[in-house]
Amino acid sequence: MRHPLDIFPLDIATGNAFCNRTQEIERLSTNIEGVTHTLITAPRRMGKTSLVIETLNRLDIARLIPVHLDLMLTSSPTSVQQYILKAVGEGISEIKPIASKLNQAGQQLKKALLSLRPQIEITDDGFKIKLEATKSPVESISDALTGLDELANKHGYRVVFYMDEFQQLADMADNETLEAAIRHAAQHAKATAYIFTGSNRHMLSLMFDDSARPLYHLCDKIVIERINTSEYAAYLKKQAKKRWKKPITETAIATIMKCTQQHPYYVNVLCRHLWREKTPPSAKKAMEAWCHYIQYERGRVISDINKLSNNQRELLILIANEPTDTPYAEHYLSRVNFARGSVRNILKALIEQDFILCDQNGFYRAQDPVIEAYIRHKQQGSSLIHV
Ligand SMILES: Nc1ncnc2c1ncn2[C@@H]1O[C@H](COP(=O)(O)OP(=O)(O)O)[C@@H](O)[C@H]1O
Ligand SMILES: [Mg+2]
Repeated sequence: MRHPLDIFPLDIATGNAFCNRTQEIERLSTNIEGVTHTLITAPRRMGKTSLVIETLNRLDIARLIPVHLDLMLTSSPTSVQQYILKAVGEGISEIKPIASKLNQAGQQLKKALLSLRPQIEITDDGFKIKLEATKSPVESISDALTGLDELANKHGYRVVFYMDEFQQLADMADNETLEAAIRHAAQHAKATAYIFTGSNRHMLSLMFDDSARPLYHLCDKIVIERINTSEYAAYLKKQAKKRWKKPITETAIATIMKCTQQHPYYVNVLCRHLWREKTPPSAKKAMEAWCHYIQYERGRVISDINKLSNNQRELLILIANEPTDTPYAEHYLSRVNFARGSVRNILKALIEQDFILCDQNGFYRAQDPVIEAYIRHKQQGSSLIHV
């Protein structure tokens, strides 16, 4: 039996820990097979990376080279270039007909010339041996990506070039040149399917939806939503059977769904805790554990809320307490103090920063269930000190 911590991981979920997303997996697989590029967006911790990795695990394509580039920590075009060149180098070394020959040559060289740090340099008519470590020439990103694609195509390989947290590029100097280089490579790719993911949907939308920007109309877009309640309930029942050989009650499941609002990260946080117990949780136990977690997270919630302007905070508090499908209605706004005319901009800023979302039913609500629960708890709590 898998350990409960493996079934409900706080990082990438795959295999038995992966619930549903059948349609998304199918669509992404079709795109990869057809060398169609894909953009996947969703707020952070909604399951983008897990979806890509799980899809790659399930794909049955012979000679597939999956490359995963996490751009989270990049801050300049040079660092992006370094990441990409490294990834391309690793990708090429996966192409067996090339790697086996170079590897043989490399092994012999290393044995004979170890102290001279032999390097293999590719030339027009084969390769050249260099005997001093030199800085590698700065190649352009587009050349590296195109080169990988050409080699893969020539040898019957397929590449998936997955760039995670792609919005990082938008903030860099020369970002449009970088975007143009990537577009050039992607547009001419024969064997490489690109996948871009990121959590800052506003930034990504500026990059991919603006006809003036290089990446415009390059990708099929997948938006990840929360996993629906019935799929999640069935999944949790199955995990309960495996853990305790006993069913979990419908009310306990309903409580887990209601507290976490089917947010995959928070479902895992809560279930990870509950699944450690010796018996299935009651609804009451699940609720207690959730309240405990909200308290534990309050430092993070407060620092998140403090990033907002006073007006933004006021509107967030109103919407968290009372989700609405009519955010501009006079009676609704009678409870805030700022000018009515500015509501549109304040709401827009909250949506762009992922504090507020508009759900499938057209209701505006807090995006993060922990922030929502914290605000409600604060508003409803007593001001008296119990001594
Ligand atoms: N399909 C899924 N089933 C179960 N848990 C998932 C699923 N997708 C994501 N998770 C969980 O949600 C959290 C966030 O997943 P991750 O893939 O890192 O999201 P993102 O890349 O969008 O930030 C992790 O705890 C992960 O285990
Ligand atoms: Mg991720």
